[in-house]
Amino acid sequence: MLVTRQPVLRRFWYAVMPMDRLDAGPQPFTLLGEPIVLWKKADGSPAAVRDRCCHRTAKLSRGFVEGDHIVCGYHGWTYDCSGACVRIPQQPDLQIPAGARVPAYHCAQKFGYAWVALEDPLVPLPDTPEENDPAFRRIHQMDETWNTGALRMMENSFDTAHFAFVHKGTFGQGDQPKPRFFELRETDYGFEAEAIVPINNPPASHRITGSTEPTTTRHFHNQWHLPFLRRLGLAYPNGLLHNLYTAATPIDDHRIRLIQWLYRNDSEADCSAEELNAWDRRVVEEDRVILESVDADAPVDVGRRDEQSMLSDRPGMIMRRRLLELLHAHGETEVHGWPSAAPSPERETAPC
Ligand code: FES
Ligand code: CO
Repeated sequence: MLVTRQPVLRRFWYAVMPMDRLDAGPQPFTLLGEPIVLWKKADGSPAAVRDRCCHRTAKLSRGFVEGDHIVCGYHGWTYDCSGACVRIPQQPDLQIPAGARVPAYHCAQKFGYAWVALEDPLVPLPDTPEENDPAFRRIHQMDETWNTGALRMMENSFDTAHFAFVHKGTFGQGDQPKPRFFELRETDYGFEAEAIVPINNPPASHRITGSTEPTTTRHFHNQWHLPFLRRLGLAYPNGLLHNLYTAATPIDDHRIRLIQWLYRNDSEADCSAEELNAWDRRVVEEDRVILESVDADAPVDVGRRDEQSMLSDRPGMIMRRRLLELLHAHGETEVHGWPSAAPSPERETAPC
C-alpha cells in the first residue's frame, strides 16, 4: 500500500514532533508526502499549514513566528493558523486578496508532542490510561526517521516469531524459535493482544525488568490503533509495568518518523530515564536494522502479492484486513508500487 495514495489515511491524527522543538521557531515536517510547517502560537499551542507561501512559494519554515502568526522570510507575508494571509507589509492600505491563503491542518498537542491530521479526523486523539495516573512517570524516548513502511513497523510489534532471531542479543531466547501466540480481541480502534512470553534477562537489563534471575516472563498487554499507533504494555512478575507507545508516522511511501514514549510505575531512583532509554534503544535498534531491509510497500490486499505467511503472522494479517476494510469503506482500493503477479496456488495464508 502506498500510503501517500490512500486519501483516507489523511483523516487520522499522527504524532509529528516533540513540542519543545517548536521553541526554536517554525519547523518543517513531511506527512504522507505533504510538506507542512508547524509553529507555536502565543498561548503555547501548535499550528500547522502547508510549507509553501502563496506569494512566490518560499518555504514558510524558513520564516519566523510573530505572536500567533507565521511570517514568510522572503517578503513578510503573514499567515494565521487558518492559513489566511493577514498582512502584506508592502501594501498595508490595500485589501488582501481573497485567494491569499495556504491550506491549514488540524493540529494539537498531547503527551508532549504535536499531532497533525491533514483532513477532518475520523477518530479523536488517542488516550492513555497512564497519563493521568500518579503511579506513572512519562519518559520521551525516540524521535527519528526510519527507512521503512508504517505497516511493516506496526506488524513487527505483534510478531513474537522474530524475538529468537532479531532480539537474541537482548531479551530473545535464541534456542526457543517457536513463538507464543497472542490472544487477540478486535476492537473499534483496532485490536488488543495478550501473550505471556519468557525472556532472557541479560545483566544489563536487571534494573529494567526488576529481576536478577537469568530469565523471567513478560505479560504483554498490547494494542494496535488504526492505522499506525501501537501500545506495548510489558508487565513483569514483580508488578513492574513498562508501557511503550510508538507512533509510526508516515513521512512518505518509504519512510516513517518513529516517535516513542514510555510510562513506568517506578521512580528515577529505581531506574533512571537514561538507563531505560539506553535499554530500549538497544532493542529498537535491532528492529530498525531488519525493518530497513524489508520492502516498505507492504500489501493490505494480501491476495495481490506473493508474500507467504505463517500462523504467528495473524496480528499482521488482521491489520491488513482492517486497513483494506477501511479503504473500501471510503471508496478506495489499495494502490501499490509492485508489478501485479498472480497468487501462487500453493500459498498458505494464516487464518484471521
Ligand atoms: Fe513569501 Fe514572498 S514568497 S512573501
Ligand atoms: Co522487535
